[in-house]
Amino acid sequence: MPELASREHVRAIVPVVREALEQAQTRLEDLTAIAVTQGPGLVGSLLVGLTYAKALAYAKGLPLIGVHHLEGHIRAALLGVDIAYPALALIASGGHTHIFECLAEGHYRLEGKTRDDAAGEAYDKVAKLLGLGYPGGPVIDRLAAQGNPRAVRFTSPKLKGNPSDFSFSGLKTAVLRWVEARRLNGPFDPTTDPATLDMLASFQYTVISELLNRAGQAATRIGAKALVISGGVASNRGLREEVGRRQWDFPVYFPEPRWSTDNGVMIALAGHYRWQLGLRSGLDLKPQANLPLAQIK
Ligand code: KG4
Ligand code: ZN
Repeated sequence: MPELASREHVRAIVPVVREALEQAQTRLEDLTAIAVTQGPGLVGSLLVGLTYAKALAYAKGLPLIGVHHLEGHIRAALLGVDIAYPALALIASGGHTHIFECLAEGHYRLEGKTRDDAAGEAYDKVAKLLGLGYPGGPVIDRLAAQGNPRAVRFTSPKLKGNPSDFSFSGLKTAVLRWVEARRLNGPFDPTTDPATLDMLASFQYTVISELLNRAGQAATRIGAKALVISGGVASNRGLREEVGRRQWDFPVYFPEPRWSTDNGVMIALAGHYRWQLGLRSGLDLKPQANLPLAQIK
């Protein structure tokens, strides 16, 4: 609900910034620059953030730096590490399931993306179907750990064309059919019903396999020297364990789990990187709902 989201942003932005400054024991006067998300995203929410950031930057005489939301997700995984290039980045969140080739630092090329739902969206829809609330990822992650991932055979989608593309809508429909059939046997509590726990474990196993198989194959194809996995779904415990079991000949980098889901730190990190390159935005910076991630400089 875009209109509601914008209003919530208006309501939250002042107290959130105040609280962040308090927690960091710092003042606006001590900052070097203001980084803000330019896109992609809901235009109303972006507009609230941009307007507030511009006002702060103008009032305090600080440089303004517009950043790409996905660049933030990638930067969150690279704090304090120097990776080798070319690298591959998989970003799996509620709005995106994208693979980028990073030819050099700050140089991105879209390798593939979902053709329908994002991976996080599939988690959220399955959770909604079972009345498990929002966001669906963390609760399904927890419940899936109690089930057998091989109990239900969900098939991998047959996609023609780009092997780095994803599709999760078929899996979502398969889960819907499974739940409908289960309901015929009477009411059940999805948090304790053994059959549902098995189904959720199998659902999670299928999502993780899709993500890691396609990203792993793309990384091998381009001769990647590193794989970065970020976005809300990257905090999934099952996914992190599965990465540990894969025998890839390139290292894998994750953000700390709390910096995998959307956060301000990742935007500050992306802003810091641009600031170091001498990049600044003007006060005419505009929100871009569909901003592509491309070469920075
Ligand atoms: O990156 P993010 O915070 O926001 C977007 O940019 O979309 O990602 C949120 C998404 C939600 O769909 C949420 O269900 C999913 O990430 N998510 C997870 C987990 N934690 C959050 N998915 C799977 N396992 C998790 N542990
Ligand atoms: Zn995000």
